Amino acid sequence: MLLERILEIANIAAQEGISLEQLHSQLDDDAIDTLLELQAVEREIEQFDKFKHLFPDETQHIGEFSFWARHLYAKHMEFFRLGKDIRSRCFMAANRVGKTFSAGGYEMTCHLTGLYPKWWEGRRFKHPIRAWACGKSNETTRDIVQTTLLGDIKYNGARKGVDGSGVIPRSKIGVDQGQLTWKQGVADLIDTIKIKHVSGGWSKLGFKSYQQGRGSFEGTAQHVVWDDEEPPMEIYGEQVIRTATTKGIIMITFTPLQGMSDVVQQFLPDDEDVIG
Ligand SMILES: Nc1ncnc2c1ncn2[C@@H]1O[C@H](COP(=O)(O)OP(=O)(O)OP(=O)(O)O)[C@@H](O)[C@H]1O
Ligand SMILES: [Mg+2]
Repeated sequence: MLLERILEIANIAAQEGISLEQLHSQLDDDAIDTLLELQAVEREIEQFDKFKHLFPDETQHIGEFSFWARHLYAKHMEFFRLGKDIRSRCFMAANRVGKTFSAGGYEMTCHLTGLYPKWWEGRRFKHPIRAWACGKSNETTRDIVQTTLLGDIKYNGARKGVDGSGVIPRSKIGVDQGQLTWKQGVADLIDTIKIKHVSGGWSKLGFKSYQQGRGSFEGTAQHVVWDDEEPPMEIYGEQVIRTATTKGIIMITFTPLQGMSDVVQQFLPDDEDVIG
């Protein structure tokens, strides 16, 4: 009720050209408190809880962030849907269209947390998963892939962690001793981190860069691998092996700035080397 009253007054003020100071004098203390609370809730969503508001039925503006309606993202929806039947998918698209944040980052978050949206038609894992998020160099993996999923580095006292301002909801990121490990020799790059799964268990997310070489991709089986840049063939081959026993999935998201690599060629029809 209070909110309606505030909106009504704000509307009238806008129509009448009344200043914010004048408007302020029309609101009582309760109304101002409610307004401040609403702003705080919006700020919390916008910074630390974007995931559950992404791809809404209708576009929503919360704080400074626009959660665009999912019907505007036909290619993203197709990409998600295809994951149900196809083990390796490639999202090759122009710059700034949402490949990292809301294609790879979003789907990775669904699998890590088990929180699939009501409209999800893609692949589902019913249990906590093991996953790798990968980039070309240690630096791009940290600055793009890690930041997109987990946000910025933040100290809690002497303990280094992340602030949870990425796609993975802050409330799902493991903060206990041993739930976060750092890579040796690369400043601020996470090696592995635990993410709370809806079943009550924990998924394990590891960060990898192609720079670390094929050898660093050997070893453990994975359910989900996300490459935010095209991987070299030998590393892609290793990822295919790591996901074989789990019937896992591989997602590659990238913009083809350096022509077609042999890995990407595999995703194109035989007689085509460009997609119109
Ligand atoms: N589904 C979405 N809803 C709202 N905003 C979005 C969505 N997807 C992406 N954005 C916004 O667009 C920005 C760019 O998205 P993103 O970084 O995923 O693009 P990209 O295609 O990976 O870009 P680049 O070509 O630089 O790699 C994001 O930081 C985010 O603010
Ligand atoms: Mg990107």
